[in-house]
Amino acid sequence: YHYDLLVVGSANADLVIAVERRPGAGETVLGSDLAVHPGGKGANQAVAAARLGARTALLARVGADDHGRLLLDAQRAAGVDTVGVLVGGAPTGVALITVDPSGDNSIVVSPGANALLTPADVRAAASLFHASQVVSAQLEIPLETVAEVVRCLAPGSRFVLNPSPPRSLPGDVLAACDPLVVNEHEARVILGEACVSDVPEDWARLLLAKGPRSVVVTLGAEGALVASREGLARVPSVRVAAVDTTGAGDAFTAALAWRLGAGEPLTRAAAYAARVGAAAVTRAGAQESYPTAGEVEGTAAGEVGETAA
Ligand code: RIB
Ligand code: NA
Repeated sequence: YHYDLLVVGSANADLVIAVERRPGAGETVLGSDLAVHPGGKGANQAVAAARLGARTALLARVGADDHGRLLLDAQRAAGVDTVGVLVGGAPTGVALITVDPSGDNSIVVSPGANALLTPADVRAAASLFHASQVVSAQLEIPLETVAEVVRCLAPGSRFVLNPSPPRSLPGDVLAACDPLVVNEHEARVILGEACVSDVPEDWARLLLAKGPRSVVVTLGAEGALVASREGLARVPSVRVAAVDTTGAGDAFTAALAWRLGAGEPLTRAAAYAARVGAAAVTRAGAQESYPTAGEVEGTAAGEVGETAA
């Protein structure tokens, strides 16, 4: 394969304001200076994988505007192949983000050009699909586009989906996932009425019963659960002081997809991905916060302690 990972997904300009606390309905609060960062779950995944050393391509759409140029520059600086990044048709997607002192965020996305990434764009990128060992996607692009991604997968290539923001998924998309990567909120939405339990192990089992070949449930400070036909395992978290959690899940998914493509078993790949995600929360922004492989090795040595499962 020419690419370890092809990411199909969104690219957004992240407009970020730090706040003491988030405003409620009808309320105004003052925040920090505005920061503009390259973001979007697809663009984030591509940068995360490339910074780790994966040969990575991105299939996405940005506007012919300053935000689009910011995103393309960030992809190229990270070493991502942008041959699949389409330009024009609508303004670049924008994410309005508030980050609170605990590092937690709230995000509203205006899809812009991301909404114009079509099934036809996916079909036109057939050569990228044939050249890619692993293909990953998220849900900031139209669901029918993700469904076309599943139909365009080359024989033998692997599909990884983070269904964010979550919605219910068609059976053929679920069946292609290896793994489906969800956090608690996404697990609950995808399970819908079937989500009667508060036990993450139950969500993992119930999600697996919906058809994916494997499932990863990320649990923040509690680590992650991996589930496949071979059973269920818990992966420990890595304790860090959170500065900004924005995009940490994207870094986790990208690292996971890359390690799986390299042949690592799910549990080991998820443990590595947890270290990458942890490194990402210690720095501001999404893409700018992603570690190189060397930095991930550095954190393993000592200053980062692993919590017990
Ligand atoms: O997952 C984090 C990302 O979500 C941000 O970069 C923002 O653009 C939204 O897509
Ligand atoms: Na971060």
